[in-house]
Amino acid sequence: MNANAASASTDKVKHGLAAADAAPPSPDWTIDQGWANYTAEEHAVWKTLFERQTKLLAGRACDAFVAGMRDLPMGPDEIPDFRKLSAVLMQQTGWQVVAVPGLVPDEVFFEHLANRRFPAGNFIRKPHELDYLEEPDVFHDVFGHVPMLMNPVFADYIQAYGAGGLKAHRQGMLKNLARVYWYTVEFGLVQQADGLRIYGAGIASSYTESIFCLDDASPNRIRFELERVMRTNYRIDDFQEVYFVLNNLEELLELDRIDFSPIYARIQAQPELQPGDVLDTDQVLHRGTAAYHSAKRHA
Ligand SMILES: [Fe+2]
Repeated sequence: MNANAASASTDKVKHGLAAADAAPPSPDWTIDQGWANYTAEEHAVWKTLFERQTKLLAGRACDAFVAGMRDLPMGPDEIPDFRKLSAVLMQQTGWQVVAVPGLVPDEVFFEHLANRRFPAGNFIRKPHELDYLEEPDVFHDVFGHVPMLMNPVFADYIQAYGAGGLKAHRQGMLKNLARVYWYTVEFGLVQQADGLRIYGAGIASSYTESIFCLDDASPNRIRFELERVMRTNYRIDDFQEVYFVLNNLEELLELDRIDFSPIYARIQAQPELQPGDVLDTDQVLHRGTAAYHSAKRHA
């Protein structure tokens, strides 16, 4: 179900193929997208996913996502050409989309982000696995992530995350930083005047989680608080038990300016939190019933 660039265990974040198993195709792991090589069947899978998800996301995705999608050369009829996407992105926020064969090692991933290059898988899932995939494919990476890169605040935030990731990697604090990515870039919700909306790509590219995260009574929905999020483990194998909610995307600007080093020192002294935990200090927007995950645990 959830395929995320940051797909990972909570102990070791991998953005890719375990690096040890595969020789890099090039020093920065990029490859040619090979757009001309997509088959009619592959374009048809894109079309099915694109149409289903676009219909569902009306009234669910945040305004920035909708605006980004509208202004990009991305539609139902074919898998987008990364060169065309990059031309528009470059003008808007200075970003590019580069093709990679799948997950890439952390340092490579962060280096790309820090330089405003978004690594996207160039392959697409098979027709029989529309709702399941182990690695982020072109639908997750491009449909899910790229519209938000058209937003100047978000564009700066992801670059800052890349730079922060390189630093956290050196400091051995990647696990904590990866949780911020997970609960914002992949599974973030934002409060708009007209309601709660999706901006995370892990949700936006998933049919079932786009419904679950907003409509289901089971998950907790809690105001985003940086240190709280950095202490919280996450689920990679199922829907999230908690979604953290921004008041607005501009909150992310604040994160760009923060020096994380003192925070890392503080949170090391505090216990880790499990995804379903609720603290007295949380601003709880919706206290979940936990029905979904407890039913699974007892199944
Ligand atoms: Fe992702």
